Amino acid sequence: MTKATQRHGHPEPMGSGITRPMPVQPLSTRPTPQTEPMEWWDIEQVAALEIGLFPTDSPWTSAMFWSELAAGHHYVVVRAPGGVVHGYAGLASGDDEAEVQTIGVAPERQGHGIGRLLLEDLLAAAGPRRVLLDVRTDNLPAIKLYESCGFTRIGLRRRYYQPSGADAYTMDRPPNEDAARGGQQ
Ligand SMILES: CC(C)(COP(=O)(O)OP(=O)(O)OC[C@H]1O[C@@H](n2cnc3c(N)ncnc32)[C@H](O)[C@@H]1OP(=O)(O)O)[C@@H](O)C(=O)NCCC(=O)NCCS
Repeated sequence: MTKATQRHGHPEPMGSGITRPMPVQPLSTRPTPQTEPMEWWDIEQVAALEIGLFPTDSPWTSAMFWSELAAGHHYVVVRAPGGVVHGYAGLASGDDEAEVQTIGVAPERQGHGIGRLLLEDLLAAAGPRRVLLDVRTDNLPAIKLYESCGFTRIGLRRRYYQPSGADAYTMDRPPNEDAARGGQQ
């Protein structure tokens, strides 16, 4: 994922700091987790998760997530009944390529398939496009997840993440020709 300084140049958008309303999803009968569009009232929770998940790599702020939603990028969450966010992910798409912007799962919910669910949602949204991402070279769980979804390493970026100075692999999933032909991904 792109956790580099370039991700943090967004203008400060309006409205950050607004508290979310009372939970609107009292569903308790959901058989399995599912992804849903990220809404503005998820942002404070997502930004709090970012701080915990990326403490040394310039976690995204609420303002930056506001900006991403305002730009119309594909952002999704997995919510527990009652609206607690267990995981989130985002994708920015161009004509031929898409980029995984972020993906994170609450520490206490990791290892239960939520990360894979989120990534599969992003890949479905990417359709036939080539998909790119950056990941810390020491982030084995994420690298394993990406490899299991068809990503391979195509480059190394030294000191890509700041302020940690950690290196990143750039990975890509080639264009999905099945999706390009209108078939299943
Ligand atoms: C990376 C992350 C999103 C994975 O989410 P998750 O819900 O824990 O992952 P899942 O349970 O869906 O597991 C999917 C796959 O990831 C890999 N994986 C997950 N945890 C792993 C671990 N501890 N060690 C090795 N591989 C692991 C496995 O390939 C796994 O597939 P499997 O269960 O069939 O073996 C999650 O660990 C996370 O939020 N990490 C902190 C934030 C982060 O690093 N984000 C990515 C930045 S590029």
